[in-house]
Amino acid sequence: MPTVLALETSCDESAAAIVRDRTVLASAVASQVEEHARWGGVVPEIASRRHVEALPGLIDQVVEASGVAIAELDGIAATVAPGLAGALLVASVTARTLARLHNKPFLGVHHLEGHLCSAQLDEQPPNPPYLVLLVSGGHTELVRVNGPGDYLRLGRSHDDAAGEAFDKVARLLNLGYPGGPAIEAAAAGGDPHRFALPKGRVSRPEGGFYPYDFSFSGLKTAMLRQVRSLQQQAEQSEGEPLPVADLAASFEQVVAEVLVERSCRCAAEHRLSTLVLVGGVAANQRLRALLETRCQRDGLQWRLAPLTYCTDNAAMVGVAGCQWLKAGAASAIELGIAARWPLEQARRLYETSACF
Ligand code: KG4
Ligand code: ZN
Repeated sequence: MPTVLALETSCDESAAAIVRDRTVLASAVASQVEEHARWGGVVPEIASRRHVEALPGLIDQVVEASGVAIAELDGIAATVAPGLAGALLVASVTARTLARLHNKPFLGVHHLEGHLCSAQLDEQPPNPPYLVLLVSGGHTELVRVNGPGDYLRLGRSHDDAAGEAFDKVARLLNLGYPGGPAIEAAAAGGDPHRFALPKGRVSRPEGGFYPYDFSFSGLKTAMLRQVRSLQQQAEQSEGEPLPVADLAASFEQVVAEVLVERSCRCAAEHRLSTLVLVGGVAANQRLRALLETRCQRDGLQWRLAPLTYCTDNAAMVGVAGCQWLKAGAASAIELGIAARWPLEQARRLYETSACF
């Protein structure tokens, strides 16, 4: 079974891990959240600088904790796409330098494939084919997984990603950054059915709606209107202060419902018996609970990425790296980084001549 060192710096978490097949021998994450929180979102320039500072220490940490020397590794993996260009470069250059120095294969990993592989870190990994609901800060996708490296997108958001909607609504409610955990905390004890909010649908040019696609911009506007109207009422009649818990809970509920309903429908209509939840937003307890309940009701099996590996980490990147290494693949050492790159093209990262 292959053992790899994996690095991840595509956004605002610097991470390193040592993974043997789908067992995590050591994993370390340094979050920059506090630094970006004062700006209300990720500042790319700051992210790159902090990755440069944090990554060497994280590598030392996982090498020591795992007891695996770099010389014993079978490969070195790094996320190379998609993400913030300057941030991606840090892990990419570090991994390629180590690979050259130690004469190891280099594996350039697609970040979303990493998220898909986080499901492999569960004690009972899903068996292909299955449907994955991937919900992160940058993506909301329904992906059919036919096997390692064989992915087909069946649904997507046409505007904001689910995590982005959490972050923007948290800002609106003055809850800080990152929005997901802040909304989840604020929603505790709130009434999830107090406010009726829209489940944005995406029209087809030929009529009707795309059944498995999402739109969160209308929901964001509805939240804004609701907040403004409540604020006006409060000013006019010295009414109650903004009911943040009910607003947060109602928002969380409608997002969870729309995600789960369309995912279950997609799984059923594509005759896929297992639904898998991954990505940063998969850490949300209301979403996890609703997915379980609905899958149970609809006779679907379900798998949830382990909580520790929902948000960005390097262990999931290591699982993806091991998967390709087992298939006999490796990336060109010249492979650069790409801010955008479709998941369906993930296998091109292992062509002998670099695709970017
Ligand atoms: O997967 P991830 O760590 O990074 C990307 O690849 O984007 O996802 C980050 C996103 C953020 O938008 C954050 O607000 C959201 O995941 N998130 C959550 C929760 N924890 C993180 N959203 C809802 N509930 C949570 N508990
Ligand atoms: Zn991510």
